[in-house]
Amino acid sequence: MREGQHYLQTQGVVQWSTPSNIAIVKYWGKKGVQEPLNPSVSFSLQKARTLTRVEFEHRGISNNPSVELWLDGQPMPSFQPKISKFLIHLTPFFPWVNHFHLRIDTHNTFPHSSGIASSASGMACLAFCLAEMGTLIQASAPAVSSLLVSGIARLGSGSACRSVHGGWNLWGKTDALAGSSDTFSVPVTNVSPAFQSIQDTILILKSGQKRLSSSDGHQLMETHPYRDSRIAQANGHTRQLLEALATDDWATFGQIAESEALSLHALMVNSRDGYTLLAESSWEAIYRVRDFRRSTGIPVYFTFDAGPNMHLLYPEAHLKRVDEFVQDQLLPLCENNTCIEDHIGAGPKKLNKETSLYTQAL
Ligand code: PMV
Repeated sequence: MREGQHYLQTQGVVQWSTPSNIAIVKYWGKKGVQEPLNPSVSFSLQKARTLTRVEFEHRGISNNPSVELWLDGQPMPSFQPKISKFLIHLTPFFPWVNHFHLRIDTHNTFPHSSGIASSASGMACLAFCLAEMGTLIQASAPAVSSLLVSGIARLGSGSACRSVHGGWNLWGKTDALAGSSDTFSVPVTNVSPAFQSIQDTILILKSGQKRLSSSDGHQLMETHPYRDSRIAQANGHTRQLLEALATDDWATFGQIAESEALSLHALMVNSRDGYTLLAESSWEAIYRVRDFRRSTGIPVYFTFDAGPNMHLLYPEAHLKRVDEFVQDQLLPLCENNTCIEDHIGAGPKKLNKETSLYTQAL
């Protein structure tokens, strides 16, 4: 029998589009094989997405990945080690992965270094592509499901495991949600209508390379003096946030969102060789959001990922008034007056292989 003949297909193409997500309760610190120290809760974005196309071709038995990476039509050798490491991690699930040459083309709908996690959407998107590829080449492969893909995406980047469902997601074992797990994320479905249409305006206060990667930040939690109290805080916040989402309680939601963001950044400051990723303009934006909230009573709150750029969170009903505030008070603080107006989204989508990666019509 010719080598490769036992595969249903020896070449083919798969394409997916997957959202980024923004965490309200933050994942910070790991244990075991990419499992979280604490539960985290996020929602998937709609416009901020990664689109990935994988072309595969059988190349024979090998123990090493064969992969070429392209970002926006340009070769990206600098991402090669991270992707190769991810593929090596996947061999227990996809033993065939090294038997194929993979050409991976990727496009993000949002700018690089914009405060939107491209590793979350990127790794989740690649995980969807590989799971579908499995079904094309092996009759015995498991069907593509969000839970399966979540567990795989997690091995590439922890927060990627929360980019596999639309709407609200929870990752990490907690008594507050039945079925929750440390190895994959589950959808949070008991959510009031206003939280199902939450808005997120992302303010690009400062772009550029981070001082320290998230992986290094997670590692610093291993010996962090506040490790245990952080785990307790995140567990408490998870329970309160689920309650707030179910009961349309924006005040509690906002208190948790802001406390989580500032706790994440305080943990960085207070870690060994402390550092900060917030910029001076991040603080000015915080003060302006709080002043606006106090003077108008509009429930608008902030969060930050591991970076200086603010995510402004508010109900859709206040879109117009918040947009005016952003134009007047926040855009002048932003680099090149840039913000991205996004909102909660519907989740991953399998793309027809004829679809251009550069399409915005999602
Ligand atoms: O998925 P990672 O390893 O890039 O970690 C992401 C951590 C935060 O973005 C800061 C928080 C989170 O839960 O997304």
